[in-house]
Amino acid sequence: MPAMDVWMIWLALGLRWLHWVGIGLVLTGLLAFRWSGRARWRLAVAGLGLAAGSAFAWPAVYAASMTPGNVPWQVLLVLGAGAEGWLPGVAALLDLHPDWVSAWRPEPAVPLAGSALRQTLWLLVALVLASGCAWLAWRVASKPLGWMLLALAAVLWGYRPIPSPALLLAPASAHSFRQPDVAFDVSGLSLGQVNYQRHCITCHGAPGEGPTRKTVGMARWPTVLGAALFETRPVGELYGHVQYAAGHAYSQRLSEAEVWQILDYLRVAAAGTTLQREQAWLQPLPAPGMSIRCTGAWGHARSLSDLRGQKVRIAVQDGGASSVAARALPDPRLVDVWLLPPNADVPAEAECVSTEPGTWQTYGWLAGVTPEQLSGAAFLVDRQGWLRAFASARDAQGWSRPDSMCGPVDVAQTALPTGSLSEVLDTMARRPVGPLVGARL
Ligand code: HEC
Repeated sequence: MPAMDVWMIWLALGLRWLHWVGIGLVLTGLLAFRWSGRARWRLAVAGLGLAAGSAFAWPAVYAASMTPGNVPWQVLLVLGAGAEGWLPGVAALLDLHPDWVSAWRPEPAVPLAGSALRQTLWLLVALVLASGCAWLAWRVASKPLGWMLLALAAVLWGYRPIPSPALLLAPASAHSFRQPDVAFDVSGLSLGQVNYQRHCITCHGAPGEGPTRKTVGMARWPTVLGAALFETRPVGELYGHVQYAAGHAYSQRLSEAEVWQILDYLRVAAAGTTLQREQAWLQPLPAPGMSIRCTGAWGHARSLSDLRGQKVRIAVQDGGASSVAARALPDPRLVDVWLLPPNADVPAEAECVSTEPGTWQTYGWLAGVTPEQLSGAAFLVDRQGWLRAFASARDAQGWSRPDSMCGPVDVAQTALPTGSLSEVLDTMARRPVGPLVGARL
């Protein structure tokens, strides 16, 4: 997945503010009776232009920032022209992931119909003419002609030809671009699993395996909540489905945070299935947070996120001194965090340890194995906090591929021949995971 730019989200947010500034200018132009007619006219027309321009632009910028890859300008044009970007809720003006304002969103997997792309030219012409009329109205600033030009601009705007969105866009809901707003950590994921088992497992079965039977009276088979779901659907849409769709409507029974935790848990479980199947994670995931205790230079660190900026190796140790695998021998390039069972003695040579309950289980989901099978395994986390590679205790092959979630660059070229630690670290540095929108790092 290519890098998506967080600054574009800020730009969209700024445009929503500008929209209200424009409306403020219109009102000032209408109400500032003491000023000359010409100044008031110009202020009002400029405000109108600003309001219309930003109502058009912010949904397009926002959708572009939340969609992986480069979105063609024609698609954004159709989206902006069709979205209801007017008068965004004032309360949501500080929200980086506001409710989506269109029934459509860009989707890289939708093949673009050539005829629809050509039709966008007419849309462009209409919009350019409308802006031209508004600009002339601003220039002439004489009442009758100015009003006529403004009316013409309004007609051109009102009758702008929008190609059928279905040919270029995918259906969307208000929740499409929502992002999880809960901490991605061991305790949250553990709660997610508890609530999944309490509310969802009867119909959906174990994550990734799917339902075992169709519940009586159910018209449709419950969806398999596995990796495919997270590869093809924005997580916000899954959230909206669970909270509000008929047959689910959990907004009555579960809090927002609880639903996000369930979805996070499912994403982690899906990552484990993918790792078992492909020997690599295909989607970027941060290393789940946990509380840690450290000695020496890292004595101040209380949680995994305090080690951000360092390359971290998380080694699963069952506590006995003899079990300290060769992999976990100190390495000057890495900070070591040992996952120990909750009541284990902390070995003197350990740099950092975590004995938080639930860590083995959570990291076991990520690896697609039971906590018992996890002993002796290790995870590598890069400087940005992304989980990059896994080595199981019994695996002679060494590390999994640390670049598989970095994008569609030719994988064969970058495949690791031996998977030695040096090569893995080298690949991690050469191919960073781009900053992702909504990533909670
Ligand atoms: C009574 C059975 C039942 C329960 C309980 C249930 N689901 Fe579903 N779920 C379904 C069925 C049937 C579908 C497929 C039809 C549909 O889209 O609603 C589905 C679909 C889904 C989808 C896919 C939506 C999509 O847009 O593709 C998700 C995600 C989901 N469920 C999550 C959950 C979660 C999370 C819970 C627990 C909080 C849950 N479900 C509880 C029956 C159930």
